[in-house]
Amino acid sequence: MENAEKRTVLSFIQPTGTPTLGNYLGALKNWADMAREYDCLFGAADLHSLTIRMEPSVLRRNTFELYALLIALGLDPEKNILFVQSHVSQHAVLAWILNCYTQFGEASRMTQFKEKSANHQDNVNVGLFSYPVLMAADILLYAADYVPVGEDQRQHLELTRNIADRFNGLYGDVLTVPEPFIRKRGARVSSLQEPTKKMSKSDPNAKSYILLNDKPDSIVKKIKSAVTDSEAAVYYDAEKKPGVTNLMEIYSACTGSGYEQIEEDFRGKGYGDFKSAVAEAVVEELRPLQEEWARLLKDKAYIEATAKAGAEKASKIANRTLAKVMKKVGIWRV
Ligand code: AQP
Repeated sequence: MENAEKRTVLSFIQPTGTPTLGNYLGALKNWADMAREYDCLFGAADLHSLTIRMEPSVLRRNTFELYALLIALGLDPEKNILFVQSHVSQHAVLAWILNCYTQFGEASRMTQFKEKSANHQDNVNVGLFSYPVLMAADILLYAADYVPVGEDQRQHLELTRNIADRFNGLYGDVLTVPEPFIRKRGARVSSLQEPTKKMSKSDPNAKSYILLNDKPDSIVKKIKSAVTDSEAAVYYDAEKKPGVTNLMEIYSACTGSGYEQIEEDFRGKGYGDFKSAVAEAVVEELRPLQEEWARLLKDKAYIEATAKAGAEKASKIANRTLAKVMKKVGIWRV
């Protein structure tokens, strides 16, 4: 990829709860590597989180903690743009404009909307429906070239590309059409209790996930009670042995050991030994991050000032795109 360092990458995470080991091994752990190669924007997507009902004080606290976590990951706020989505109000304005360039039919096809509305029938709000359009605005405001997406977000990125193409078709080359960023590494971590489902911070079963601020003894307990099978043999088979395969995936992501190596190291040993090793690897992987995060959380003034500076940097870029878009669609500006 030529001129890789000049390309822009954007990635968001929702403050819907304390991030899990899945968020970390699947996404966050790679962000510091990405930041070395690209111009990066990383954000806490608090507006997206409003699509589910949360205690206001919890959302506020989660957002603050998530912002501090971005810094604890080793992301330099001077070199990257680290910000909170709602601190840059241009996201909401561009999302509204793009709503008017998105067809109801195409938004209705989003599988995440279908799944989430089926799972939360008591609160199928319009925000849930137009969530992918807000995501399009997040991406297009910053002319992001690449967006790292998991399988579940691929369709939303495709919609973003369609919206951008449609807009450019009408008004000229205004918006940068983003590409999915293929992660070099990044585990997919499953629920410890239902290993065919992904590990999610909003899962009602606390034993299903490891939170990034879980204490070592809690991590050990959760991994020891992870669902496995009755075969008592450690080998990789996602279909027949989803629980063990998930633990192997976690162990591999934390230690760098390949699956064959893990199979060899634990041949003839029971699940008890294997689970202890996985638990220890997770505890050691998270220890430095947890220490740095706890230190930063005590420095509220620094976190607030950094978030403010990040939002100012993001706003400058967002304003440029929004001004172009508004001019093109015919909004009178004074
Ligand atoms: N289990 C997972 N394994 C690997 N990667 C994961 N990600 C999430 N869960 C796993 C990746 O984390 C990034 C941020 O995710 P998000 O918080 O914006 O939304 P999400 O994917 O909906 O994450 P959760 O934890 O499942 O949140 P809730 O419970 O609120 O829906 C993304 O890059 C995602 O792929």
